[in-house]
Amino acid sequence: MTQTTNLPTKLDWDSEFFGFPIGRLPSVNLNSASVNAADEWASTHQIRCMYCLVDSTANTAIKILERNNYNFADMRLTFSTPVMTPPAITQRNKYATAAVKPHREADIARLEEIAEHTFDNTRFFFDTNFPIQKARDLYRLWVKKGCLASNTEVLVYYDENKPLGFITCTANTNRIGSIGLIGVAAEAQRKGVGKALTYSALQWFHHQELEKVEVVTQGSNIGAQRLYQLFGFKTQSLQLWYHKWY
Ligand SMILES: CC(C)(COP(=O)(O)OP(=O)(O)OC[C@H]1O[C@@H](n2cnc3c(N)ncnc32)[C@H](O)[C@@H]1OP(=O)(O)O)[C@@H](O)C(=O)NCCC(=O)NCCS
Repeated sequence: MTQTTNLPTKLDWDSEFFGFPIGRLPSVNLNSASVNAADEWASTHQIRCMYCLVDSTANTAIKILERNNYNFADMRLTFSTPVMTPPAITQRNKYATAAVKPHREADIARLEEIAEHTFDNTRFFFDTNFPIQKARDLYRLWVKKGCLASNTEVLVYYDENKPLGFITCTANTNRIGSIGLIGVAAEAQRKGVGKALTYSALQWFHHQELEKVEVVTQGSNIGAQRLYQLFGFKTQSLQLWYHKWY
């Protein structure tokens, strides 16, 4: 009987951004044959880094990846919550939401600066094969793209006119919203900025008439997890990122 092998795909955006060829191996039906086939494919396409995202319960796949020099890079934790109902929204005076407003174009450079120094707990930093400045630039670009996207609102916490933090809120066509990034400048953390941003984001999602909101964070990011849990987010899935370098 022939075994199913799912070949990787080349990730054009990632390859272009990091400046070397990057591929992604699907974890569905992953077996020894598909991992060997992926190595051959990587050689043909001169791939330098292969990503694989696998469910944390897929014991056999995880063992195969580890036997084949895929290295652990991150725990990808997805939380979700139904969009807040109006009674919960009436608790707004608990949070400093008056300081939160849609971003102004003139502040994009400051938001990029906050992003550059805020996300150093992600897989692109944990895996030290990625150049640090490129990893930082990735988050600069992410927030900038959010500010320019038509289905995304970037809400900013302002102290007077100075941005202290931001949250990117996207309304997807399937009525599911997503928080892409939330970042608070280091000197402003643990003062309620994250709570005001998250609450304001949930209000924004409510006004968009979405059913559910998802947010992804790292398994190691206890601060972010506690923040989302405060607002009723529950764990939806736990996946593991693996990287193999050639
Ligand atoms: C996570 C983050 C957005 C929280 O923002 P913040 O302004 O510091 O958070 P707040 O002061 O509003 O605190 C909200 C709650 O989050 C939790 N929390 C935040 N930081 C925490 C930390 N370092 N350790 C434990 N709990 C933490 C707490 O439950 C806190 O409530 P409490 O102070 O009443 O106990 C901020 O720390 C940050 O920007 N981190 C780096 C970027 C990041 O990890 N983003 C999330 C992934 S995209």
